[in-house]
Amino acid sequence: MDVLLTDIKQLVQVREGQETPLRGEEMKQLPLLENAFLLVSEGRIAAYGPMEQCPGLEIPRKSLAGRAVLPGWCDSHTHLVYAGNRSGEFVDRIKGLSYAEIAEKGGGILQSAKLLEKTEEDELYRQSAQRLEEIMTLGTTAVEIKSGYGLTPEAELKMLRVIRRLKENYPVEVRATFLAAHALPLEFKENKSAFVDLMLEEVLPEVVKEGLADYIDLFCEKGYFDLDDTERVIQVGQEYGLAAKIHVNQFHAFGGVQKAVEGRALTVDHLEELREEDVKSLQASDTLAVALPGCSHFLSIPYTPVKRLMEAGVPLVLATDYNPGSAPSGNMSFVVSLACVKMQMTPEEAINAATLNGAFAMGLEKEVGSISLGKKANLLVTRPLESYAEIPYRFAHNLVEEVYIQGEIWNP
Ligand code: NIG
Ligand code: FE
Repeated sequence: MDVLLTDIKQLVQVREGQETPLRGEEMKQLPLLENAFLLVSEGRIAAYGPMEQCPGLEIPRKSLAGRAVLPGWCDSHTHLVYAGNRSGEFVDRIKGLSYAEIAEKGGGILQSAKLLEKTEEDELYRQSAQRLEEIMTLGTTAVEIKSGYGLTPEAELKMLRVIRRLKENYPVEVRATFLAAHALPLEFKENKSAFVDLMLEEVLPEVVKEGLADYIDLFCEKGYFDLDDTERVIQVGQEYGLAAKIHVNQFHAFGGVQKAVEGRALTVDHLEELREEDVKSLQASDTLAVALPGCSHFLSIPYTPVKRLMEAGVPLVLATDYNPGSAPSGNMSFVVSLACVKMQMTPEEAINAATLNGAFAMGLEKEVGSISLGKKANLLVTRPLESYAEIPYRFAHNLVEEVYIQGEIWNP
C-alpha cells in the first residue's frame, strides 16, 4: 500500500549516492531534514523532502508530527537462533566464575550446543522466531544470524535451515552466516584439525549446495581456534564464494586481525583487545570493524577502542551480538546508548554505525540503512521527542513507537 508520511519532525540519515562505508569525518555527519514528508510506494522510498514540497496525492496520509524517522536498525552480528538460555551460568559468573572457567567446565558454547542438538527443528524455529519478532518490534529491520551452536553436521544444518525459514517467513532482511568453527566439541579435544576438516569438507559443501549461507565465520581466540585455522576457514570459504566475517580479539590479540585483512574479510567483530598494529592493518584495508558493546557490558570486559579506530579512518559498525552466553539482548537502541555512554561515540557516530555501516557489514547497503530513493521503506518511527539524541540519552527505554518494514507497519 502507498502511504504519505507527513510532518516528520526529523527525517534522519538522508543520503543519496553513498557507495562506500562511512569513515573518518563522514562518520560525524548525520544528514537530516526537519519538518519533512516521506512517500512510500510499493514498499520502497519513492520521494521525500521538506513539507513545503509535499505532493498533494490522493493516497492515505499519516502525520508523524513530533516524531523522528530513522532507517530501521541494521544489526550485522547476531546468534539469535539458539535453544533455551544460560541464565544459570550468568549466576555462576556473578558468584565469581569467569567466562573462560565456565567454558573449561563444559559450559558456555558447548552447553548451548548440547541443548540445541536435543531440540527439534520446529521448536528451535519457534524460539528463534520469538526473538526475531522481539527485535523487529525494537526497530531492527535487517539482521545477520549465525550458526555455530550446532557443532555437528546435522545440528549446524538444522540451525541454518531455521535461519532460512525465518528469512522466508518474515519481511525483515536476513543474512545467514555459517559459523564453521565456534568451539571444539569434547570428542575432538585432541584433534582440532579433524573438526575443522569435518566442517569445511563435509558441512560447507552442503551449506553451499542448499544456498544456506551468505558468509563464513570462525572464533579466532586462545583455547578456541588459532591463526592457521583462521587462514584456512577464510581461504576455503573464498573458494566456495563466501566472504568472511570473523570473531577476533575478544579476549586476546595475537594476529587474527592481520589474517582477516589478508583474507579480505568483510568484517572483523569484537576487537575488545586491540594493538596499534591491528589498527594499522585495518586502516590499510576495506575491512569494517564491528564493535559489540552489549557483550562488553554483559561480560564486564573492556569496550572496543572505537575512538582510536575512527580516528584512523576505519569504518565502524555497531551490532548486538545477541546470543545466550555473552549478550542475551538484541536491543539496538541500548547498544547505541552504550556506545555513547561507554565508548564516547556521539549520537551521530553511533547512529551511522548502527544503520548505514551496519548495512554495509551485511552487503545490504543497496537495500537498507539510509533514507535514500529506491531503498526499502524499512523505517523506525520514534515517540514524540526533541531530537534523535534522546534515543541514546534515554538508556534502556524504548523510544520506538512504530516500525515499517517494506512500507507496512510491523505488528507481531
Ligand atoms: O560473539 N565469542 C564467541 N561467540 C559468542 C558468544 C558465544 C557464547 O558464549 O555462547 C560471542 O560473544
Ligand atoms: Fe558473536
